Amino acid sequence: MNDTFLKACQGKKTDYTPVWLMRQAGRYLPEYQKVRSKVDFLTLCKTPELAAEVTIQPVDILKVDAAILFSDILVPIEPMGMKLEFSESKGPILYDPIRNDIAVSKLRRIKAEDDVPFVMETIRMLVKKLNVPLIGFSGAPFTLATYMIEGGSSKNYVNTKKMMYQTPELYANLMEKITDTVINYLQAQINAGVHAIQVFDSWAGILSPFDFEKYALPYVQKIIAAFKGKVPVIYFAFNASAMLKKVKQSGADVLGIDWRIDISDAVSALGNDVTVQGNLDPCILFGTKDLIRDRVAGILHGAKGAKGHIFNLGHGILPETPVENAISMVEAVHELSSKNSR
Ligand code: CP3
Repeated sequence: MNDTFLKACQGKKTDYTPVWLMRQAGRYLPEYQKVRSKVDFLTLCKTPELAAEVTIQPVDILKVDAAILFSDILVPIEPMGMKLEFSESKGPILYDPIRNDIAVSKLRRIKAEDDVPFVMETIRMLVKKLNVPLIGFSGAPFTLATYMIEGGSSKNYVNTKKMMYQTPELYANLMEKITDTVINYLQAQINAGVHAIQVFDSWAGILSPFDFEKYALPYVQKIIAAFKGKVPVIYFAFNASAMLKKVKQSGADVLGIDWRIDISDAVSALGNDVTVQGNLDPCILFGTKDLIRDRVAGILHGAKGAKGHIFNLGHGILPETPVENAISMVEAVHELSSKNSR
């Protein structure tokens, strides 16, 4: 197996900088759209043969150094007891949002092997087929809580913040239930064979640093502590470059960085004892091949002081992205980084 990605997670020397892309399986690939045209998104997540097929597509097409399980962060919410739907126009919808004690007390802590067996089946199929490491994942408790409390995506997260500030005990009970579910879910993924895990905190950046530390970080720390030393853990707190020192307190082996900060400044803030992952603006992939190459070179150079570097976008690849530009990006990372290996 190509273990360059795993070595970089651990901060070991590699022949070149490994690269993968968040949301690398998805609508920008015609091969994905072909599979997706036959089934809805949740059915795709719940059908191991198809989920495995679309997981492998970007590995073959882009030649990335890691695969990420095809699923969604909201999948384990359904067996907790909420009806989930992915609407083409509105994105995810969770019916009967969680707003009071009764709703929180009704939520189940899932047993992933029994409640989402298709995820573990997909992983078992993938580890037999892949020649690169497989990344498992979960949403972070705060990000999952926003979907559960708001009932979907949100602009100002008013209901989430109301619960945090008005009924902190209720908020804590909800977060504890989600945290237990996430730990069970990630452990089941590890048992099934994933080589690393990523915890997505997509909405961490809507919190002030003070509130992040109080209402989000302790739960992430508990999750990461549960897996420390078992498999590498990546923590990606999106839009959080103004509080990287607190993000580091998560204890993760690898920290995801978005594009709003120069990666060399991120490395200065974080120190040289943690691997960084990032941080190309996904929209650079709409530029020319020369622009892409130039920006890749800048990021490779900027990340040199880190313990390790995994190249990635600063957020998910966009559906309109030209596939050939994503391929050029991966080629540029491999070529430019092997000239001056870490
Ligand atoms: O990265 C990968 O290739 C693996 C698969 C993956 C998906 N979602 C597939 C998906 C992963 C890791 C996710 C994580 C996820 N899902 C996050 C965290 C990462 C981030 O983007 O911040 C979040 C916040 C979600 C919730 C979610 N899922 C939203 C808001 C949407 C609708 C918006 C959109 O992009 O369509 C989804 C749907 C979704 N998840 C799609 C895919 C491929 C599109 C579904 C389709 O085929 O129509």
